[in-house]
Amino acid sequence: MKYVKIIGTGSSVPEAVLSNSDLEKMVDTSDEWITSRTGIKERRIADKDTASSDIAYEAAEKALEAASVNPSDLDVIIVGTITPDFIFPSTGCVVQSLLGAKKAYAFDLMAGCSGFLYTLHVAQGIIKSGAAEKILVIGVDTLSKVTDFEDRSTCILFGDGAGAAVLTASDEPGILSSILNSDGRDWDLLYVPAGGSRTPIGEEVLKTRDQYIKMKGNDVFKVAVKSMESATINAIKEAGLAPEDIDLFVPHQANQRILEAVRKRLNFPEEKVFVNLDKYGNTSGASVPLALDEAIRQGKVKEGNLVLFAAFGAGFTWGASVVRL
Ligand code: ACO
Repeated sequence: MKYVKIIGTGSSVPEAVLSNSDLEKMVDTSDEWITSRTGIKERRIADKDTASSDIAYEAAEKALEAASVNPSDLDVIIVGTITPDFIFPSTGCVVQSLLGAKKAYAFDLMAGCSGFLYTLHVAQGIIKSGAAEKILVIGVDTLSKVTDFEDRSTCILFGDGAGAAVLTASDEPGILSSILNSDGRDWDLLYVPAGGSRTPIGEEVLKTRDQYIKMKGNDVFKVAVKSMESATINAIKEAGLAPEDIDLFVPHQANQRILEAVRKRLNFPEEKVFVNLDKYGNTSGASVPLALDEAIRQGKVKEGNLVLFAAFGAGFTWGASVVRL
């Protein structure tokens, strides 16, 4: 068992749609501004009774079905999220309980919008070590729960969603390369100040609205482009391939302008880049697996194709990976 292969994917988004014209009624913005600066037209928002584990569970069930794997066969469940149901226990344990995956051990991993690429990397290591055969990885976020809908610079960007993949030990090539990076020096360019041990939630926090995302969008934008460019180039090289070998680029769906910059750098034709941010906005950890699942279900890629993933997020964290489906 030399390789680690993705054998099934699934995804889920909440039903409620928040369109740009809805946002025009909430903050001083316009459909034209949002579309031209980001490419986003609408996003999905979880209702007050829906937590990350609920949509993660729905995505997981679909991935297990696609992989023809029973929950009882899973050795490990890893959830990449920055919006867990609780500070503790992990969302992974809640999903494990919903699935009835009794044999597995479960944990969460926090890497912002790069969460899914981090789960892939860690799962690959566990499987290659021989310690597990089948792992369920999930990228999920309900960023609407930590979004300030009075802050027009952030509330237009984010949406909720979940994506999952089942990985197995395999004799056939699967994950061909996986590059991860982080640079903690700029952690405060994109963060939620309160709700953790540094600043627990209290009356003062509710006044300052520090329970919500704060972001210096311009600074994040510049680093995101450079980091995703270098990670994708390294991942293609590590896989022993050239950019033209890639069948589909499935990047983190943060902003159309970021995707366009990376696409041009790699010299990819537009049809080789999968984009669904117009429908969902930036779904953080869910973004890459949600896009992958849609690409597979729409027949844009099939078994044997080479897919390139790239992501960038809070931390900062970033990475890229080349996978043969
Ligand atoms: N509607 C109308 N005007 C707005 C809005 C809005 N929603 N938001 C900001 N503006 C205004 C600003 O106030 C500013 O006005 P001013 O010139 O009078 O001061 C003007 O528009 C330009 O603002 P910028 O912030 O310079 O706009 P920019 O072109 O950088 O676009 C954006 C902002 C879309 C946030 C961009 O910086 C971006 O996408 N950054 C990356 C953010 C990102 O992707 N973060 C997530 C990555 S990590 C992760 O996924 C968690």
